[in-house]
Amino acid sequence: MVDTIKWVGDINGHVELIDQTLLPVEFRIIEIHDVAAMWQAIKTLQVRGAPAIGIAAAFGVVLGLQKINDLAEISVAKQKLTETCVYLASSRPTAVNLFWALERMQRILDDSSIRSVQQLKERLLAETRAIRDEDAAMCRAIGRNGADFIKDGSAVLTHCNAGGLATADYGTALAVMFTAHEQGKKFRVFADETRPLLQGARLTTWELMQAGIDVTLICDNMAGYLMSQGKIDLVITGADRIAANGDTANKIGTYSLAMLAQAHHIPFYIAAPSSTFDTGIATGRDIPIEERDPDEVTRPFGRPIAPDNVKVYNPAFDVTPHQYIRAIITEAGVIHHPNSDTILQVLTR
Ligand code: MRU
Repeated sequence: MVDTIKWVGDINGHVELIDQTLLPVEFRIIEIHDVAAMWQAIKTLQVRGAPAIGIAAAFGVVLGLQKINDLAEISVAKQKLTETCVYLASSRPTAVNLFWALERMQRILDDSSIRSVQQLKERLLAETRAIRDEDAAMCRAIGRNGADFIKDGSAVLTHCNAGGLATADYGTALAVMFTAHEQGKKFRVFADETRPLLQGARLTTWELMQAGIDVTLICDNMAGYLMSQGKIDLVITGADRIAANGDTANKIGTYSLAMLAQAHHIPFYIAAPSSTFDTGIATGRDIPIEERDPDEVTRPFGRPIAPDNVKVYNPAFDVTPHQYIRAIITEAGVIHHPNSDTILQVLTR
């Protein structure tokens, strides 16, 4: 598995990431040398997926401080750290992992043992590496905790991309599938194409095929028909932000899938690390939903498909109320029938 995103070199180094806008037609690794380029990479989805953009933002903070002279006053670097975090936080609003990672970077300011700019920079780089490594470990644990939900012969439906590309390694929803596959289970996956940016068609099928997992691509509007034909046994998706009561924001179209699953008595699961929970907000109503450029709908990948100047609404995420989620699979364990109590029981044990 190639790293989705990694730091290259020492404190004066740079970031390398897979440009996800080009996949699967082209596999290109790009170099990111400054914080503006990182902001742009997050905004344009060159790097995407909730955990991956958290890691990207943390690396962006290190890049943001590189130009501060090591002999400068520590207060100058601290001010720059705060400004860089505010700037990176404006790149995308929904996935809480971005803000979670930036808060971790910002909290380093509380460490009174840091007295020089160089010490601060080194501490920040160490923190980004910890964020990355912890995410990789969480993905593996999610895979182990969720694999039992996939039985021999199961047909799983997934939406968007919650794989290795969306995380440090191995994914969340796809981690469950990768682990079940490694356990020798035979099952098939249906991947929604995920309009408008086709993360399912471009990224999820690519990852699953590379792993040798039987995957079939469907258009988003086919899911209900497959369910009505008894062709889907369970749905597993990732998440971008989970409120204290379990309401879950994920890629637009996830809510429709959860409703369809409910109507067809099919279990609907979310797989997400603890960094995706935002216990500071009570319900999904408080989750900010990103609205993206109308061109993504009217001119997908540069090709016009709708009349010029047609009105467009392009929300990138929706919220699935917790009562439609059978369980949330986390690195700390499985939260059955998620609500404020069951979430705290698992996340704090
Ligand atoms: O707009 P994107 O591609 O960043 O949206 C990604 C998703 O919605 C994923 O399902 C989610 O981040 C989970 S990633 C493990």
